[in-house]
Amino acid sequence: MENIKNRIDELIEYINKASYEYYVLDNPTITDQEYDDYYNELLFLEEKYPTLKREDSPTLRVGGKVLDKFEKVVHKTPMLSFDDIFNEEELILFDERIKKVIANPTYTLEPKMDGLSGSLIYKNGILITGATRGDGVTGEDITENIKTIKSVPLRLSKNVDIEVRGEIYMSKLSFERANIERRKNNESEFANPRNAAAGSIRQLDSRIAAKRNLDYMAYFIPNPENYGLKKQSDSLELLRELGFVTNYKLNSVAHSVNDIINYINDLSQIRKTLPFAIDGVVIKVNDLEDEKKLGYTARVPRWGIAYKFPAQEVLTTLNEIKYTVGRTGKITPNAVFNPVHVDGSLVSKATLHNYDYIIEKDIRVGDIISVRKAGDVIPEVVEVKFDRRKDDSKKTIMIDKCPMCGSELIKKDSNHYCINDACDSRKIESLIHYVSRDAMYLEGFGERIVEDFYNMNYIKNIDDFYDLYKYKEELKTLEGFGEKSIDNLLISIDNSKNNSLERLLFALGIRYVGKKTAKIIASKYKNIDNIMNATYEELCDITDIGKKIAKSIVDYFENEDNRRLINKLKEYGLNMEYLGKAVDESNNLISGKTFVITGTLSLPREEIKEKLESLGANVTGSVTKKTDYVIVGENPGSKYNKALELNIKILSEQDYKEMVK
Ligand code: IVH
Repeated sequence: MENIKNRIDELIEYINKASYEYYVLDNPTITDQEYDDYYNELLFLEEKYPTLKREDSPTLRVGGKVLDKFEKVVHKTPMLSFDDIFNEEELILFDERIKKVIANPTYTLEPKMDGLSGSLIYKNGILITGATRGDGVTGEDITENIKTIKSVPLRLSKNVDIEVRGEIYMSKLSFERANIERRKNNESEFANPRNAAAGSIRQLDSRIAAKRNLDYMAYFIPNPENYGLKKQSDSLELLRELGFVTNYKLNSVAHSVNDIINYINDLSQIRKTLPFAIDGVVIKVNDLEDEKKLGYTARVPRWGIAYKFPAQEVLTTLNEIKYTVGRTGKITPNAVFNPVHVDGSLVSKATLHNYDYIIEKDIRVGDIISVRKAGDVIPEVVEVKFDRRKDDSKKTIMIDKCPMCGSELIKKDSNHYCINDACDSRKIESLIHYVSRDAMYLEGFGERIVEDFYNMNYIKNIDDFYDLYKYKEELKTLEGFGEKSIDNLLISIDNSKNNSLERLLFALGIRYVGKKTAKIIASKYKNIDNIMNATYEELCDITDIGKKIAKSIVDYFENEDNRRLINKLKEYGLNMEYLGKAVDESNNLISGKTFVITGTLSLPREEIKEKLESLGANVTGSVTKKTDYVIVGENPGSKYNKALELNIKILSEQDYKEMVK
């Protein structure tokens, strides 16, 4: 037995050394075949003598455990990020701000890896926990998945207790491979390596995460003084010594803004050729004493900043302008162009808003156009390359008939409308609106399912949702639907019957009745019958309800078809009462308290607001002395600073969840 144990130790040492040489030093000394032989021998021994399997064994990297959910991890030191800047002017301002405190600052310059940050905790040199950033205060325990990442050392070269921060990412090669696999399996492709990494690290089955071949780049040690470190560049060196992959070939040091600008320019030149995606440069004050002097604002460190590369603009050919019809009948022209990769995702369409927009930019089919992703997500057409326009190009002429039903369009302000209430496109869009999250929230009904069910004649009108159960068996035989998914759809339809009145009112899609108006009216009239009987004058008297809205509501309920719909929904047992005031005041931590929500949270703000209000709280938009709690998400704004200033209790999203439990 002792012999076997020794052999296992020896094999682990060989394998770890080989991984270190391969990943950290970029300098393998054994062949793949030798590596596989060691690995297979280790697997064999571990299977035969399970009690001898070590907790840092490299065979753990294939994954195995399947979790029900991710546990929460509270970060000992909050996981912050830096403020973003986008140009030289902002960079100069940053440097000037630093120089007010530090006479001659030196900076480290590091590529900004485009993945998601992960915290790793080692005890006595052994990896114990891996966590996502979450809301910065609380993340999720992803240890099992982290262990599958080959560039994460399971045991460090020293037996230290240390927390390490870095980026979990997917290389461009693994991203391509993952998408080839997904195409083969008829699954939707990942839009970019960051989404792919984020999706993979949140897999409950670690074997799936293992197959995705993620990587880890270490870049930060919280509380570096505990390890006698004097500089950020020393932290990076220590990380490498401990066995982490760092960006040592690309990281650099700068003594002036000029150095930084040169670095940014050089890095953007080679960006395309790098094996991983980057989206900017992270600039940190190098001297850790200086960092301390600079400290933190309420939100972010003052000692660093993230310079983001400008949005990429890519040229392509406009093939077609395709018109779509919205719920209100509004016609939207969309540019359809040759698919191009823009900032890591493949795009082939962009909205052109309306005909006036097309004319203003003089956009024509056949043009070479430049496209970019606005606000990092939605594609937009920036401009037409007029010098490359063909001589025979023709000015775009607006369609005059609805592309779906063929009825005549009318123009109002900048937009064209199809005013045929029976237009299929409009009806499908209305149904999509009905099921959406802010309306009746029929979970599981995506746009596609609604459209398919419409075309297959299962759902032509809103009330048809509530008759769908009759086709249960038939639906289960449809391609792409299983027993479970149909059951779930029927459950969410049933659940929606209990929604409060304002959701239904909004979901009906009455012109100009948005969420806020629906709430005002529901809380004022209390039930649908009162609303149906409300007069134009009465409605106009309500603060925040203008003439246009009042007229639209009266018109809607005067219409025979709409009255019939409401009656049918009543028969199906839908709640028609305002439930907002039925407040549960049993939670005295919340009842009667005033909350403000700021920053980006994983739950929709509206959902948090509704929940708090249902528990008797007030949710307001600005922080004052009267505010009891401020719920703070990612990148919170000035409200967060104000809360600190007024000493108001701050809650993370996790705190909120605990509170409402
Ligand atoms: S340092 C206090 N270094 O970009 C901030 N972050 O705002 C500690 N990132 O969310 C992070 N590459 O996920 C640091 N070399 C790098 C980075 C990096 C990418 C991410 C990180 C953070 C954001 C920076």
